[in-house]
Amino acid sequence: MVSTSSLVKQAGNDEAGATVGARIEFRNVTRRFAGKGGAAPVVAAQNVSLSIRDGEVVSLIGPSGCGKSTLLNMGSGLYLPSEGEVFVNGARVTGPNPQVAFMLQKDLLLPWRSIRENVELGLHIRGMEARQRRDRAIALMQRFHLKGFEDHYPHQLSGGMRQRAAMARTLAVEPTVLLMDEPFSALDAQTKMVLQQDLAMTLAEEKKTTLFITHDLVEAITLSDRVLVMSKRPGTIIEEIIVEIPGREDPMVRRRDSRIAAYVSRLMELLHIDDLVSSDAI
Ligand SMILES: Nc1ncnc2c1ncn2[C@@H]1O[C@H](COP(=O)(O)OP(=O)(O)OP(=O)(O)O)[C@@H](O)[C@H]1O
Ligand SMILES: [Mg+2]
Repeated sequence: MVSTSSLVKQAGNDEAGATVGARIEFRNVTRRFAGKGGAAPVVAAQNVSLSIRDGEVVSLIGPSGCGKSTLLNMGSGLYLPSEGEVFVNGARVTGPNPQVAFMLQKDLLLPWRSIRENVELGLHIRGMEARQRRDRAIALMQRFHLKGFEDHYPHQLSGGMRQRAAMARTLAVEPTVLLMDEPFSALDAQTKMVLQQDLAMTLAEEKKTTLFITHDLVEAITLSDRVLVMSKRPGTIIEEIIVEIPGREDPMVRRRDSRIAAYVSRLMELLHIDDLVSSDAI
């Protein structure tokens, strides 16, 4: 019932060595961090290969500390791999890349700028003319239900509204690849469902390629075309699950689909959730 497939697709390579058609690709990537005080190095991610096609949404799940954020940091060019290569749009990642946008659990809005000015931030940095960036920010704020809050400051908004503003800011720079690191994990369950809906519709409409980290199994299944499951550290990908429930653009529909249970059950098995219940590891 739950399908899996080979992790690395057999496709041609371009001149730089990237898989043709992949928007973002990790090829045999390992990342080590120096151990503290002479301790052995920490291997955060080990021999990870994954490839995401244009417009695909892929979720990454795995135990805490297995290297998920480290992988995203390498996708954005903040960290470089110890071994292996990362490609974005066919070019090897050697540093931060304007085609890649990052969204985190913390909204990181600047408290001294209004919501509109926060949404405009990336456009401002890129030198876009004031009128044009204002128009784009206002349109995005409408899309994310923030109309009327343009001149508010971050402290005047709820957590959900601040994450909406962070989504608008992330999309304002028109990235081709979105990297999202637990963007909704600090929100209450109902606000989260609403924001998932907004995000899914936007990703489908704008055909954004997305790598999404979450610990929420239902969130991974409802938002994604595929879910990649990582082992505990040193984290490596142990399974790829293709979500064959229709309606990726409408997570509410997927959430109500009876097939969800089989996917959740498979993910629980892979993550050994039952074993955790009887251990004191958490
Ligand atoms: N800059 C760093 N310096 C040293 N060690 C690091 C650094 N970044 C991450 N690590 C280590 O790498 C491992 C993986 O961390 P990472 O943040 O990628 O995990 P994660 O899968 O995102 O976990 P979580 O689900 O808790 O967010 C951890 O042991 C962490 O301590
Ligand atoms: Mg993390």
